[in-house]
Amino acid sequence: MTRKILVTSALPYANGAIHLGHLVEYIQTDIWVRFQKMRGHQCWYVCADDTHGTPVMLRAEKEGITPEELIARVHDEHTRDFAGFHVGFDNYYTTHSEETRACANEIYARLCAAGLIDARTIEQYYDPLKQMFLPDRFIKGECPKCGAHDQYGDNCESCGSAYTANELKNPYSAVSGATPELRQSEHFFFRLSDPRCQAFLRRWTQSEGRLQNEAANKLQEWLGEDGESRLTDWDISRDSPYFGFEIPNAPGKYFYVWLDAPIGYMGAFRNLCAREGIDFDEYWHAHSSTELYHFIGKDILYFHALFWPAELAHAGYRTPSKVFAHGFLTVDGAKMSKSRGTFITAQSYLAQGLDPEWLRYYYATKLSGSMEDIDLNLDDFIARVNSDLVGKFVNIASRSAGFIVRQFAGQLCPCDESLPVFQAIRERQTVIADHYETREFGKAIREIMGLVDLANQYVDSVKPWELARQPVRASELHAACSNSLNLFRLFSILLKPVLPALSVKAEAFLNIAPLVWNDSRTVLAPGHAINAYQHLLTRVDKRQVDALLDANRESLSATPPAAAAGLRAQEPVAGIALAAPARQISIDEFMTVDLRVARISEATPVEGADKLLRLVLDLGPLGARQVFAGIKAAYVPEALVGRLTVMVANLAPRKMKYGISEGMVLAASGLDGPAGGIFLLSADAGAEPGMRVK
Ligand code: MSP
Ligand code: ZN
Repeated sequence: MTRKILVTSALPYANGAIHLGHLVEYIQTDIWVRFQKMRGHQCWYVCADDTHGTPVMLRAEKEGITPEELIARVHDEHTRDFAGFHVGFDNYYTTHSEETRACANEIYARLCAAGLIDARTIEQYYDPLKQMFLPDRFIKGECPKCGAHDQYGDNCESCGSAYTANELKNPYSAVSGATPELRQSEHFFFRLSDPRCQAFLRRWTQSEGRLQNEAANKLQEWLGEDGESRLTDWDISRDSPYFGFEIPNAPGKYFYVWLDAPIGYMGAFRNLCAREGIDFDEYWHAHSSTELYHFIGKDILYFHALFWPAELAHAGYRTPSKVFAHGFLTVDGAKMSKSRGTFITAQSYLAQGLDPEWLRYYYATKLSGSMEDIDLNLDDFIARVNSDLVGKFVNIASRSAGFIVRQFAGQLCPCDESLPVFQAIRERQTVIADHYETREFGKAIREIMGLVDLANQYVDSVKPWELARQPVRASELHAACSNSLNLFRLFSILLKPVLPALSVKAEAFLNIAPLVWNDSRTVLAPGHAINAYQHLLTRVDKRQVDALLDANRESLSATPPAAAAGLRAQEPVAGIALAAPARQISIDEFMTVDLRVARISEATPVEGADKLLRLVLDLGPLGARQVFAGIKAAYVPEALVGRLTVMVANLAPRKMKYGISEGMVLAASGLDGPAGGIFLLSADAGAEPGMRVK
């Protein structure tokens, strides 16, 4: 039976570049969609830029262009990046579209009619200079718990505690530097606390197969026990100035970006429907028998498994068949880091001449149906691609094609399907298909590579290169090479969802129509003529990977941090925080700060604090000090040991959750804090621990 499937990936923010972390998701989705299409199903894959919100508005302003101009440019960049990695959307649209606006208005109107929208006056920080209300991430101040300076309005990067913006001490606007004032304003709320929503969500999130187990458990936690109402109403409006859709009959009020973002899935699909003559309602009406899948990262589960289905259900639409959440990308075991050069943009990867299918293959080997994080280990990446793809898979074709073309006029002889390797492929292809279906791509690849090993054993046993030296054994050579090319063709089918471009090249040299999944039941007919072998894939050279890291490190100093790579939209845009110089002080005041050269004698991670390192600083004659520093994102602890830095030696000791911090090391950072990189100060050679800095 032909299934009708609509698939989405999360909509990337329009204020940043696509990076290798994003690509985990788009490649995962693309492999799945290509598999469904190869199986003959009607499968549509849509996505769009997530264009609305304060960060886009401020970024545009800073660049001196309109938000529309900014999102148009970013749309081009994103489209180019995705195409470069062969992500085959049927439509890559934008949330800033009339289709999305119409769907958002419709859903909002139906929620109003259902009595699920409330208007309420709330108090919020307002920037009197910039004349706008400030999202929490645009307010900074001192942490109410530990007193650390320059912390964001939602949590402290130094002690890790969470709080609301109103609790910050000495708050200032990250937009203008002004002191914000509390002002009242009317907001609209989606009443998630309504018993109807609660009951629906309990049922929906726990129904069989809807969510991965780990996700269902998380949701259970968020929802709380029966009768206990943990969900609070969701604030879905924002005040002008805001880049977004104005709410009907509410001048100056806009839909919050997260309200219209998922509706962007509908908008993108509606636009595709108009182009392709698809029936939109068939896919979205409340009792639709079509399938709807959202691929997302685990960080946005809350929005996709709570808010979104609740909106849809109470507005009379169908809800997602399943939500597939994946984990986060780490590079060499650590969070992507700009200072290490592992915050790699899609564009830089392609610009450095790396093959996108290397990454697609490597991610496939790592992907599963779970929410576990996946690690891009760069040495392993090089080894896997070179040994599996080049050494094993492509090799089967390159070793046989030349003989067929030169000695047999390109024609194949009958394939011997009774060979064990052909039987093994027949036997395993259903299992492989099941692995693709359940997103167990790593398992699928392992199965396929097991078969590729068998094929290579076959080639090694018949030794075409030796047969070729003995003219009397020409028919054996012909058979060996025909069998090999047939095996290569079968592997091209099995790997096609992962390696679409390589498959196209394989189809061209094999002289065959585009391969579909069921082609794996057949072999090439005797007499079929192939074309000359064309080069399929090169090896990864470690130097290319090194150059890639260098390029991403360099781009940091050359461009402002936020431009170098995609910042999360919740983060203030770099450069917007006014680098307002601090007030003037006298030399005497300055001299009250006791700065000393220190040698880092120990550096260790702190259990339970993902931003902190525990440092032991040697101050020579002044003894040793323990300091907790929020520099983990930028430094491998081992690399710090032995180096000289500068510390504030007379800072009052501070009791932290993890122990006493007896001072502070000095580091430079971008205007937007840790997101812009962290650069520890050092002292020139010759300086001794304990020396005064002034
Ligand atoms: N705009 C929202 C999504 C709206 S969907 C209606 C958003 N955008 S994002 O650009 O920050 O992220 C897009 C997707 O990429 C998300 O699913 C996110 O989880 C994923 N990833 C972003 N960084 C990632 C990694 N480092 N690793 C894996 N996936 C990551 O969220
Ligand atoms: Zn704190």
